[in-house]
Amino acid sequence: MIFALFGPPGSGKGTQAKVLVEKLGIPQLSTGDMLREAIKQGTPLGTQAKEFMNKGQLVPDSLMVGLIESRIKAPDCAKGFMLDGFPRTVAQAEALDQMLKVQGLSLGAVVSFVVDRQELIGRLSGRLVCSQCGTSYHEQTKPPHKAGICDVCGGPVIKREDDKPAVVATRLETFLASTKPVEDFYRAQGRLKEVNAVGSEKEIFQRIVTAIGGAR
Ligand code: AP5
Repeated sequence: MIFALFGPPGSGKGTQAKVLVEKLGIPQLSTGDMLREAIKQGTPLGTQAKEFMNKGQLVPDSLMVGLIESRIKAPDCAKGFMLDGFPRTVAQAEALDQMLKVQGLSLGAVVSFVVDRQELIGRLSGRLVCSQCGTSYHEQTKPPHKAGICDVCGGPVIKREDDKPAVVATRLETFLASTKPVEDFYRAQGRLKEVNAVGSEKEIFQRIVTAIGGAR
C-alpha cells in the first residue's frame, strides 16, 4: 500500500500519520521531519533547507526529489509506505510517478485534508511538537500530560520555528500558490480523495481509512 497525506500546514497530516503507522504497520515518510532531522544533524542538506523553511518557503524540488528517492528504497518501505508532505509541487508529483514506475510501483490514494484557514491558524499558533519523535500537541486543545515532556517518548516538547505568525502566513500563501495545484494533478488521475479534516482525531482517522480503502 502506497498513499500520500496531502493538505495545508496545520491540517493534521502528522497527527493522523502517527496513528496510521501503528494501525497499518507501514512507515511514515515525512519530508518535514527528514529536513528537521538534517538541520539537527547539521548536514549540508539541513543547512540549505533551514534558510527556506524558516521563511516559510519550499525547499527546491531538486533536493526534495533526491531525498525521497533514496528513502523509498530502504528495506522498511518494501511492504508500502505513507508519504506526508510530499509531493508538494507538480514537478515533485511527476518525479514521484516516474521513480515509482521504475520500481514497478504506483501511488494509490492521495488523501487531501480539507480545513478552513481560520482553523489552520488556530491550530498552528498553539501547536507544540516533540523534537524527538515528532508527536504533535496543542497548548489549549491537546497539551502533553507533563508540561514540556512528550507523552509518547519522554522527549522535549517545543514550539516550531516556522509556527511564528509571520512565517505561518507565508506558509499558507506558499501552499495556495505552489502546492494546491497538485490536487488538480491527482484529481485528473482519479486518485484524489478529499477528507473533511475537522472533527475529533478518531472521526478523521475513520474517514481516512474509508478513503484509502481502495488503495491496497
Ligand atoms: P512540514 O513539516 O511538512 O509542515 P506542513 O506541511 O506545513 O505541515 P505541518 O507539520 O505544519 O502540519 P500537519 O498537517 O502535520 O499538522 P499537525 O498534525 O502537526 O514542512 C515544513 C517545511 O519543510 C515546509 O514549510 C517546507 O519549507 C519544507 N518542506 C517539507 N516538505 C517539502 C517538500 N516536499 N518540498 C519542499 N519543501 C518541503 O497538526 C497541527 C496542529 O493541529 C497540532 O497542534 C495538532 O495537535 C492540531 N490538530 C491535529 N488534528 C486536529 C483536529 N482534528 N482538531 C483540532 N486540532 C488538531
